[in-house]
Amino acid sequence: MIRKYVFGRPFETGAVEEQIGETQGLPLYGEIHSEGSFLFRYVMRDGDAVYGLGEANRGINKRGYCYVSDCTDQPNHTEDKRSLYGAHNFIVVSGEETFGLFFDYPSKMTFDIGYEKTELMTVSCERADLYLYVIEGESAYDVVRQFRKIIGRSYIPPKFAFGFGQSRWGYKTKEDFRNVADGYRSNRIPLDLIYMDIDYMQDYKDFTVNEEEFSDFPAFVAEMKERGIRLIPIIDAGVKVEEGYPVYDEGVRGGYFCKRKDGSDFTASVWPGETHFPDVLNEEAANWFGDHYRSLTDQGIEGFWNDMNEPAIFYSQEGVRELQQVISSCQKMERGMADLHKIQQTAGGLANAPADYRRFYHSVNGQKIRHDLVHNLYGYHMTKAAAQAFGRIAPNRRFLLFSRASYIGMHRYGGIWTGDNHSWWSHLLLNLKMLPSLNMCGFLYVGADLGGFGADTTKELLLRWLALGVFTPLMRDHSAIGTRDQEAYQFGDTEAFRSVIETRYRLLPYLYSEYLKAVYSDDMYCRPLAFVYPEDAFACGVEDQLIIGDEIMIAPVYTENARGRYVYLPEEMRFMKFMKDGCYTEQTLGQGHHYVEIAVDEVPLFIRAGRCIPLVDAASCVDEIDMRTMKVIGYEGARYERYDDDGIHTDSQVTRTIESL
Ligand code: NOJ
Repeated sequence: MIRKYVFGRPFETGAVEEQIGETQGLPLYGEIHSEGSFLFRYVMRDGDAVYGLGEANRGINKRGYCYVSDCTDQPNHTEDKRSLYGAHNFIVVSGEETFGLFFDYPSKMTFDIGYEKTELMTVSCERADLYLYVIEGESAYDVVRQFRKIIGRSYIPPKFAFGFGQSRWGYKTKEDFRNVADGYRSNRIPLDLIYMDIDYMQDYKDFTVNEEEFSDFPAFVAEMKERGIRLIPIIDAGVKVEEGYPVYDEGVRGGYFCKRKDGSDFTASVWPGETHFPDVLNEEAANWFGDHYRSLTDQGIEGFWNDMNEPAIFYSQEGVRELQQVISSCQKMERGMADLHKIQQTAGGLANAPADYRRFYHSVNGQKIRHDLVHNLYGYHMTKAAAQAFGRIAPNRRFLLFSRASYIGMHRYGGIWTGDNHSWWSHLLLNLKMLPSLNMCGFLYVGADLGGFGADTTKELLLRWLALGVFTPLMRDHSAIGTRDQEAYQFGDTEAFRSVIETRYRLLPYLYSEYLKAVYSDDMYCRPLAFVYPEDAFACGVEDQLIIGDEIMIAPVYTENARGRYVYLPEEMRFMKFMKDGCYTEQTLGQGHHYVEIAVDEVPLFIRAGRCIPLVDAASCVDEIDMRTMKVIGYEGARYERYDDDGIHTDSQVTRTIESL
């Protein structure tokens, strides 16, 4: 049962696809104040759990902290951070009263879930202009499924996007990319994708390729594809201000950039220096920007990642002017430390400044809208612009596409990666906890920077993280410039890395099948144990294990120097360890707590009682997987319905095959 309440004059975000009539009156749950600003208040009971919020920090159960939906370029995902890159305003209260709430509001929104007062949940925002959807259901999982139905079908990438990808900020030349390809191929470690970060461009200009380093780019793209490797370039939100650069010239001429109040094009500095932001909320500008992806698809490119689209701002001219004023007013340092602090504070506040987000406007259906009022929609609309352009460029083809910033609704157009984490063990666990929450909000094609983006990784951390990445639809190793080399062949022990990454390919028919099932039934690809075993109090508290698809449970190792871990089994399961050379071990474990040994080169999983899964021989890339090698493992007599399709066409028919043991 879904009820829709309207407050004030909401902005049409497009998050919800289904037409739902307005319900008059006030929701059954909680209390609402909507004079001027908006406030929802609900008193939680002792045993209530709260799920949702998609890409957010901390636990699967969100109780106990305060989160702010405000798409932010946040390179430090420490526990105190309240905002990351996405804004996913969907929560589910699960307890004596079970219901879901979706606050469809595109600006900053605060979710205090027992932070100020342990039992009190408040959701608030500055303006009372929003849609509130209240969903009643039998269980938290049931609420999620109803919600997923109204927000529309999730994105399906091409099958090759389920292969393993290598990325690094700093690859600059053909030689750099060839070295990566050689490193993987010569060590016989599977690889499908190499990501091109900003250095492939000419002066960080979108839709350009550095001609000196990448002469005859189409031939280079083809050469890589010959080797079974797709190149996936990054596209940033900001378009460099430079006369003579066609994207800039066209944008200015067409009036396609976001404008200041006085009608001039708003300027913000990002990687290319001064940039303008395409007004992707404006249909004409979005079509224009999207069509530029063609310049790369025409050269053989089949996928992209959209970055810096919160949009991130390093500084604006206005911000710098204010800083200069502060510096000159403090020049004599008459107030000593106080002056120094003022300067430091002003300089530190230059990046992603709320004041800057109030300085520019979008033009939507003939109306000027100040950016901060729709801030959380920018990344969504940039990604939608690209996806819709692909529909014009090659109507029947799937492209790989994922974004950093997002809002609910973007899940129909692409996936997301969870941004700049660190090479910390705590971030491996954070990666696991975020996955089901993202799924609740429709984002199924998701993954984190495996091994960690910032800071130096270690061999052990990368191996353990890859063993989780085996199960995330987007499986990509990415790291920041200046950090230790992080490719799987850099650590000497290539056998261990080969074994872990090969496991992804061995399980690919299962993972892809479960992904398709989740999409076509508007379901989750990975669920918390609480959703599968709601009657089991132990299971409901588990935050470091997940159910992947319907048949298996995972319990990755996320501590250093561990030889295994404790795991809770809500039912009997078959414990499988995937090892080198295509081997595996199996052991039946009863319901309850167990300690299981897992070496660093092993990938563990648990097949649920009475189930089975398909397994194939590993291959160097997805296109090389030989389905004739398929066998079925798990419980005798079990049957598995395997979904598959041609992996590349949007209208490809899904085949359903029964596999049995
Ligand atoms: C920020 C992104 O989050 C990161 O993945 C990327 O490497 C850098 N921008 C440079 O493009």
